[in-house]
Amino acid sequence: MPATIIVGLQWGDEGKGKATDLLAESVAMVVRYQGGDNAGHTIVLGDAVFKLHLVPSGVLYPHITPVIGNGVVVNPQTLLDEMAMLQSRGVATGNVRVSEAAHVIMPYHVALDGAMEARLAGDEIGTTHRGIGPAYADRAWRVGLRMADLLEPRALRARLERVLPEKNAVLAQTHGGEPFDLDELVARTTDWGERLRPHIADTTALVQRALSKGLHVLFEGAQGTLLDLDHGTYPYVTSSNPVAGGACTGGGIGPLQVDEVIGVMKAYATRVGSGPFPTELADETGRHLLEKGREFGTTTGRRRRCGWFDAVPLRRAVAVNSVTSIMLNKLDILSGLPQVRLCVAYRIDGHVVEEFPSSGDLLARAEPVYETFDGWDADLGGVRRSDQLPPAARRYVDALEQLAGVPISIVSVGADRTATILRRERPRRPPLSVPALAADPSTASPAPAGPGGTPAAAGDGEPSAP
Ligand code: IMP
Repeated sequence: MPATIIVGLQWGDEGKGKATDLLAESVAMVVRYQGGDNAGHTIVLGDAVFKLHLVPSGVLYPHITPVIGNGVVVNPQTLLDEMAMLQSRGVATGNVRVSEAAHVIMPYHVALDGAMEARLAGDEIGTTHRGIGPAYADRAWRVGLRMADLLEPRALRARLERVLPEKNAVLAQTHGGEPFDLDELVARTTDWGERLRPHIADTTALVQRALSKGLHVLFEGAQGTLLDLDHGTYPYVTSSNPVAGGACTGGGIGPLQVDEVIGVMKAYATRVGSGPFPTELADETGRHLLEKGREFGTTTGRRRRCGWFDAVPLRRAVAVNSVTSIMLNKLDILSGLPQVRLCVAYRIDGHVVEEFPSSGDLLARAEPVYETFDGWDADLGGVRRSDQLPPAARRYVDALEQLAGVPISIVSVGADRTATILRRERPRRPPLSVPALAADPSTASPAPAGPGGTPAAAGDGEPSAP
């Protein structure tokens, strides 16, 4: 049962959409497992460019079932608008499925996100203003609405009657905002429910059925490890778990169902929004990366902050995600720089630190310790094999691989699907093996019983007792 997770190893925008595109042929289902319409996936298909925020990028391939898992927070209006946009460009959306357990981003969440950011002025998170944090907060507070609730107008009204007065009070009294009208909200959410009814499903069952049939299911992470609520640069993070573990809780699988985790990273670093970024460059090189790399946010259009690659959080990201192989993107963007630098440690208060600090204050004081590499001039856009790369570029990739401790299997040298170097085999987790029983027959247990009481045959493709 092949399950692959694609996860960002930096602050998002690593090019995970291209990884999905490369694997799409073999995949039957693509599942989003966290985040919401704060994400931006850019997929280039021939001459067409698609920018998706909520619908999994699998929607662009007719043989793939795109699934929005229970861990996603869904703005139903965005979902409807995105499906309408896709239909108008000839992409069928009838098979999009959204979890009945996914939480709904309500209009008051969007209003609260904006109001709270405005209140933090000068110290804001720099959110995408999509209501992500407030929607996840309500989920944790157990006052959220789920997609299934949109199908039950009476229960929906009762829940909103309980929740809305408090939301309105906070909006009006704390933030000086406009309150929402109950009847109008009930009408709007009921309409969403009616229009989305054919798409709302038990997606955990769908995912499990696909896996039990041996189909390849891809779990598509949004944002990246350094924006993870637990492992990222808190509080300058998003409100969900982009790490691979998020695919279990938010996608409906167990940890032992995962066969491979592809970590995606760029050959340099970018970050949108506030928060510490030790290798940030405010000079000519930073401008080179911004302009040549076209580093502008897909969702907000904001300029991304750019800097050298930071290998300090890389080892941590590889570990917490159980990364089995890496896709390295945008190597071509570094062409033309006289030197390329790689941050291998920090100097904090006079000490050299190689572990990524979890304290934001420490990280804000971290000065990068760099290893410097020769640059290269050649345009890499046409390179298709590792041995065609300039020696300096090869040395840089080898150094990154050594620091990561897992193979860099794919290197991307352009947005197009063909601008890709398949550098190494992608290792997978070895199949689970049951520890051998002791040879002594007096201690050996009988073979485990399969369904119907018969001993389960090993390797028959059917689930068997442990
Ligand atoms: P939120 O997810 O809108 O709450 O924003 C929290 C932080 O995550 C901000 O710094 C955003 O800029 C950042 N963020 C959210 N989504 C993305 C993304 O898809 N790419 C990069 N940064 C993101």
